[in-house]
Amino acid sequence: MNTQALLDITHALVADDKGLLAMDESSSTCRKRFVEQGIDDTEPMRRAYRELLITAPRLGDSVSGLILFDETIHQAKQDGTPFVELIRQAGMIPGIKVDLGAKPLAGHPGETITEGLDGLRERLEGYYTLGARFAKWRGVIHIGHNTPSDTAIAVNAHALARYAALCQETGLVPIVEPEVLMDGDHSLARCAEVTERTLHAVFAELTAQGVLLEGMLLKPNMVTSGADSSEQAGVEAVAEATLAALLRCVPAAVPGIAFLSGGQTPELASAHLNAMHQGRPLPWALTFSYGRALQQPALTAWNGEPANVEAAQQALSQRAAYNRAACQGTYREG
Ligand code: 13P
Repeated sequence: MNTQALLDITHALVADDKGLLAMDESSSTCRKRFVEQGIDDTEPMRRAYRELLITAPRLGDSVSGLILFDETIHQAKQDGTPFVELIRQAGMIPGIKVDLGAKPLAGHPGETITEGLDGLRERLEGYYTLGARFAKWRGVIHIGHNTPSDTAIAVNAHALARYAALCQETGLVPIVEPEVLMDGDHSLARCAEVTERTLHAVFAELTAQGVLLEGMLLKPNMVTSGADSSEQAGVEAVAEATLAALLRCVPAAVPGIAFLSGGQTPELASAHLNAMHQGRPLPWALTFSYGRALQQPALTAWNGEPANVEAAQQALSQRAAYNRAACQGTYREG
């Protein structure tokens, strides 16, 4: 392991109040998003959409790295320039989602375990050769009446740590993503409790498996009310509860925390991040690694039409700039 190179990449990913663009939707998730929008789900359309995102003017002013999907890391611009090369030319760092998705956990109805550890070392080496310098693995935790079980938390934490150790061995910075889903009618307090339980388990496994905390990033959910709860916590309450959970569970050795958006609207995801940056000193960089909350306005503006590419790129760069402002505590919509 080249420790200095790992530390340099980790720091570059969270420097200057920049964040990450998650554009690593699997083909099935991308199909879902395209169908919702009435866009044809074909390989050329997915390629065109990803080219639009990667080449958005001034995206690199607010975004340090892009998380790609396996299909995307092999794709190129219309003129033949590989996407990885375009990302580097724009001063950003290419990354790759390496998990193979959350599958039903045997014996635990309603819970999942993320797969993809078999053969992972070889896949990571392949992605490093293609130019990736960081990776992502998402474990999913479901809140229900009887869930999450200790088993689901333990096996997902174990898999996240095995993935992270393999990444560091290969020279890729692991983004460790334990996502407590917003789905359900649970309270803010219940989300806080489950998020803390999950993060404690994840850091215990990372430590037990020898993962270098200084050479990784955490990608957690924010602590919010369940999406179906009739009592939605306000922006200040979400920011307070999220910071409290993170301060209790995430060692200061971790250089950065980059949130997923998890189904929040673009405006709320920015407002929550902004509220966490109101002068309280924090031990880690705190930024964004949004998928939907960055892409949704761009996807809507594009709508599959070549004539709308410029407007879609503007929408993306604007949303990214809003979130960089949120990291500085100065976000105002419009
Ligand atoms: P969302 O921001 O849309 O939750 O996506 C982030 C992500 O990378 C999920 O794995």
